[in-house]
Amino acid sequence: MKKKILITGGAGFIGSHVVRLFVNKYPEYQIINLDALTYAGNLENLKDIDSKSNYIFVKGNITDLAFVTELFQEFKFDGVLHLAAESHVDRSISDPLAFITTNIVGTVNLLNAAKELWKGEMDDKKFYHISTDEVYGSLGPTGKFTETTPYDPRSPYSASKASSDHLVRAYFHTYKLPVVLSNCSNNYGANQFPEKLIPLVINNIKNSKPLPIYGKGDNIRDWLFVEDHALAIDQIYHEGRIGETYNIGGDNEWTNIDLVKKLCDIMDKKLNQDIGTSQKLITYVKDRAGHDMRYAIDASKIEKELGWKPSIQFEEGFEQTIDWYLENTDWLERILSGDYEKYYENQYDNR
Ligand code: NAD
Ligand code: TYD
Repeated sequence: MKKKILITGGAGFIGSHVVRLFVNKYPEYQIINLDALTYAGNLENLKDIDSKSNYIFVKGNITDLAFVTELFQEFKFDGVLHLAAESHVDRSISDPLAFITTNIVGTVNLLNAAKELWKGEMDDKKFYHISTDEVYGSLGPTGKFTETTPYDPRSPYSASKASSDHLVRAYFHTYKLPVVLSNCSNNYGANQFPEKLIPLVINNIKNSKPLPIYGKGDNIRDWLFVEDHALAIDQIYHEGRIGETYNIGGDNEWTNIDLVKKLCDIMDKKLNQDIGTSQKLITYVKDRAGHDMRYAIDASKIEKELGWKPSIQFEEGFEQTIDWYLENTDWLERILSGDYEKYYENQYDNR
C-alpha cells in the first residue's frame, strides 16, 4: 500500500512547488492535493504533473469540518503537509475575517480530523504545519529571529498564522499529535500571484505602470528561492524531529527599494531598454498600516540538524524568476482577472 500524503494549498505558489517535488520524487507516495481554488489557487501551476498516477486533486475548503473529516476517513492519510492559507498582508488589513476563518479555523479542522483518524496509532504519522517568520514581529537594524524568539505578530495575517502555530503545538502537548513546524522568510520564484512585491513589479514594468513602493522603501525582507523552501520542507517532513520548529531563511536581506531598483535594471536589459527607464516608474505611496520594518532569519538549527542550506545563489534565482514571468505572459494574463483588477484599484487608487 502506498503511503497517502495530504498536501493542502497545493494549487498556490509554494504549495505547487511542494506538490511537484513530492509527486516526482516519491512515486511510492499517493499525493492528494486539497485546495479550495481561491483567487490564489491555480491548477495551471501543476499541469506538468497532473496526469501522474500518484497524484490526485480534490477541490474543497478546509473551513468545512464535515468535508475535512470525511476526506480523512476516506483516504486515511499517513501524513499532512499544511500550506493552505490566506497569505497576503494587505488583504488581511482590509478583510481580517477571511484570515481568521481559513488560517485558524481551517487549521483546527485539519488537526481535529488527524487526531480522530490517528487515535491510538500515531506511529509513523506526521502533521507538518508550514508557517511564516512574520509571527515573530518586526526587527530593528540588528538581530535575527531564532526558533525561541517570542511571538509578536502585528498584522491580521501574522496574528492568524501565529494563532495556528500555537494550536498546532497545543495539539502536540495535549493530544500527543505528532507535529512539526517551520517558519520561513519571504519566497520568490515562478507562479507567485502578482499581488506580492516581485511579480507585481515585473508585471507593472512590462505594462509601463507605476511601481508602488510603500513608505520610504527602507523596510527589509529576507528572500529565499521557492524551490529551496520546497527542498527544506521535504527534509523537515522526512527528518524533522516531532514537536520541533525549524526556521528557514535565505540569509539574503534587501531593502524594498534596493530590490526593486535591481529588478528594474535587469528588466531594462531583458527588454532592451536604456538602463534607468524602469526606475522612472518608481512611485512612493502611502505606507502599509503597521508595516513591519525588518525580517531576518537565523537558520542555523536546520543547517546543523538537517544539513539544509539554500542551494541557489540569489543572482541566479532572481534572473530565473524574471525570465519565467517574461516567458509566461499567458499565465499572468489569465490570472489577472476582473476580480484582481478590482482589488488592485481599491488597494492603490487612494494611496
Ligand atoms: P498562496 O496564497 O499562493 O496559496 C494559498 C493556497 O491555499 C491557494 O492555492 C488557495 O486556493 C488555497 N486556499 C486558501 N484558502 C483555502 C481554504 N479555505 N481551503 C483550501 N484551500 C485554501 O500562498 P503561498 O505564498 O503559497 O503560501 C503557502 C503557505 O506558506 C502559507 O501557509 C503561508 O502562510 C506560508 N508562507 C508563505 C511565504 C511566502 O513568502 N509566500 C513565506 C513563509 C510562509
Ligand atoms: P509582500 O510581497 O506583500 O510580502 P510581505 O508583506 O509578506 O513581506 O511585500 C514585501 C515587501 O514589499 C513589504 O515590505 C511590503 C512591500 N510592498 C511595497 O512596497 N509595494 C507593494 O506594492 C507591495 C505589494 C509590497
